[in-house]
Amino acid sequence: MSKLLDYLNKGISDLHPYEPGRSIDEVVAEYNPEKVVKLASNENPLGPSPKAIHALSGNKNLHLYPDGDSKKLKSLIAEHESINFNNIIIGNGSNEILELAARAFLNKDSSAIMSKHAFAVYKIVTQACGSEIIEVPAKEWGHDLSSFPTNVKDSTRVCFIANPNNPTGTFNSHEEIDSLMNQLPSSILVILDLAYYEYVDSDDYVQVNKLLSKYKNLLVTKTFSKIQGLASLRIGYGLASDELIGVLNKIRQPFNSNALAQEAACHAILDKDHIRKSIELNASERDYLFKELTNIGMECIPSQGNFISFKGNFNAQNLFTDLMKQGVIVRPIALYDMPEYIRVTIGTKDENEYFLKKLKEVVK
Ligand SMILES: Cc1ncc(COP(=O)(O)O)c(C=O)c1O
Repeated sequence: MSKLLDYLNKGISDLHPYEPGRSIDEVVAEYNPEKVVKLASNENPLGPSPKAIHALSGNKNLHLYPDGDSKKLKSLIAEHESINFNNIIIGNGSNEILELAARAFLNKDSSAIMSKHAFAVYKIVTQACGSEIIEVPAKEWGHDLSSFPTNVKDSTRVCFIANPNNPTGTFNSHEEIDSLMNQLPSSILVILDLAYYEYVDSDDYVQVNKLLSKYKNLLVTKTFSKIQGLASLRIGYGLASDELIGVLNKIRQPFNSNALAQEAACHAILDKDHIRKSIELNASERDYLFKELTNIGMECIPSQGNFISFKGNFNAQNLFTDLMKQGVIVRPIALYDMPEYIRVTIGTKDENEYFLKKLKEVVK
């Protein structure tokens, strides 16, 4: 066996796999708390649109392959994004789009550039392709895009930007992204990951269509896992030039998104009321949690996402375990080089109050 592993592709043997949040079932099995609140994976606490749930029960064709081109969903996304059908690709979660782009452009002779503390999947897909990771120091926890160009090497083929970033919640303005795109050679693919797009309430945030019409080396990714509450169905999408979408479609598996996910996403994207309610809940509860955490002496990183990372007078790994015993699942983020920090997802009012109550008891 060890002989076999000697022939692993470059990068894979040292790869640190993604660590998902603990599940409710695991915590019940291990600690059996009276109640469990999961605030660990940046999911929508309101769940998906009721219309999306209703649509799932009507599907009688599970024996048939899904539409491999996701035509109905792509038409609705085209309308929602004011973009052409041919500029859209559907993925098994937006992570799949990140992976497809990495496979298309990265290999053992190339490098990819990303910020320190950026979303973990960028490193994984880069390393899995045997490619070098160029990590740019962060500025006040955020992506310092002004120093990206000087870190570019001749070998650089891809640049990853999470906006807002997970786990820091920091974001970059339209102007910062535009200026970076201007400076980078058009031979570098810029992946702008907008998984938390809807939660941003800053006026100078990115204008996706403006950027896409200006730059052919741009791939924007979005997801149905966050605001749309469909994380378990695994569906996301990418937006780019016809040419780039054509390349990614060549290496995509023919039926990468299943029929139930496509159907639910079609209903979710049309339920503007549910999206609005989810945005409003997140905005008010994000403010509430930020203030409450600050009031009890925690140092919070201002967030434009549906989560807050904070540190305080505690050991993050111990706090994570102590809260879990009390039925509150949060996320330690040592893997992001933030060993003192805990990330908490913004929940419903009840969930947030329960989290704060247990946090105060545990930290004391
Ligand atoms: C910044 C960022 N991008 C992408 C994803 C992946 O989302 P998906 O569920 O669409 O694969 C996540 C998930 O947590 C994320 O935080």
